[in-house]
Amino acid sequence: MNAQTKRIVERIETLGKISNETECLSRFFGTTAHKEAREVIKTWMEEEGLEAEIDTIGNVRGVLYSEASNAKHLVVGSHYDTVFQAGKYDGPLGILLGLEMVHIVQKNDIKLPFHFNVVAFTDEEGGRFNTTYLGSSVLAGNFNSKWLDCRDDNDKTMQEVIEEMGGHCKSINKDKIPQKDWLAYFEIHIEQGPVLCKEDLPVCVVNTIAAQTRIEMKWLGKSGHAGTSPMDMRKDAFCAAAEFALAVETLGQEHSDKLVATVGKVNVKPNTSNVIPGYVYCTLDIRSQDDYILEKAVEALHKAAELIAEKRALTLNWKIVQTNPSVVCDENITRLLKESVDGSNVERCLEIPSGAGHDGVMISRVAPVSMLFVRCEEGISHHPKEYAAPMDIAAALEVCRHFIFKLNDFYKKN
Ligand code: GLV
Ligand code: MN
Ligand code: MN
Repeated sequence: MNAQTKRIVERIETLGKISNETECLSRFFGTTAHKEAREVIKTWMEEEGLEAEIDTIGNVRGVLYSEASNAKHLVVGSHYDTVFQAGKYDGPLGILLGLEMVHIVQKNDIKLPFHFNVVAFTDEEGGRFNTTYLGSSVLAGNFNSKWLDCRDDNDKTMQEVIEEMGGHCKSINKDKIPQKDWLAYFEIHIEQGPVLCKEDLPVCVVNTIAAQTRIEMKWLGKSGHAGTSPMDMRKDAFCAAAEFALAVETLGQEHSDKLVATVGKVNVKPNTSNVIPGYVYCTLDIRSQDDYILEKAVEALHKAAELIAEKRALTLNWKIVQTNPSVVCDENITRLLKESVDGSNVERCLEIPSGAGHDGVMISRVAPVSMLFVRCEEGISHHPKEYAAPMDIAAALEVCRHFIFKLNDFYKKN
């Protein structure tokens, strides 16, 4: 293993131990582990010679400033929050490869024509508030101040959490990179799917990122005694939500070539074995590469939910938390990235769409975006068994090495 790959692997292990849970990795936005991780990342950025700071929302931002006049910002980034029971590679791998790109620049004394930023985004998963892309939306100037009122499972608002972290919510919008100052965005990420394993390739290029809608539902029925309430006199909110979850699965199965849909989170109240569930909070995550298909599927599921609520005489609250259209990666930078894959030892350059969401979705609203995927074992992700082999990380690093030279040449000429 070369020294740079070794350092990435060691740092992945270090971050993998910074968790709010003892039994598994979990680093939700604004938690103790999350705050600890960002300090560690900031130190690594400083060691690499970057000017580093933590912004209001909690993004760790390191910049190597260019001496060129009118230099714009090129950002390489990924996220440092995790899902619950996470793997170690989803997010951190992209940050750490970004830092190694800086190392290559420093070692070769390259005078870049752009400011080179490495950004560790504060929250991409949305594990705490179900709001994905918090960090990148701030950087892109798209942060929706309504999200500040979102509540976590303990009824704490996002605003309270940000202020507890030392941030002043009023200054969130000042943390953006203005659109005119953006040059481009690049992210390296594990594939989180099986294609690279099947094709026996260490890396590939991403051409599109799927559209995604996140919905929250509140089902209000009536709690009551599990022993005495006749079956035909109940308003069981969990049964309603369960019927809805099966409708989601059926729709997904019927259109499995075009969309995926998941009810991933369910909170039941009062959550007691001998009480009929009177209240359920649940989420719906639905994605497609086709914006129109996604829109129609959301409409169909909303209707299905309303029919279930009506049939069972329950009250339903349906709230679209976020919807993001699909993203096409930028042709010019992706061409440079493909040339970088071809220039390294990778057998061939494959292009695939991403079913997973990435911070580039938000950034694509203000800057051209490109992405490199790294193989992960058996395509497993959002799971403790998530793993990327050092050999594949080394292959990604080699592509990044070619890429930074190409970006340097390209932007010196353009
Ligand atoms: C992030 O990992 C997502 O795709 O939900
Ligand atoms: Mn993830
Ligand atoms: Mn991720």
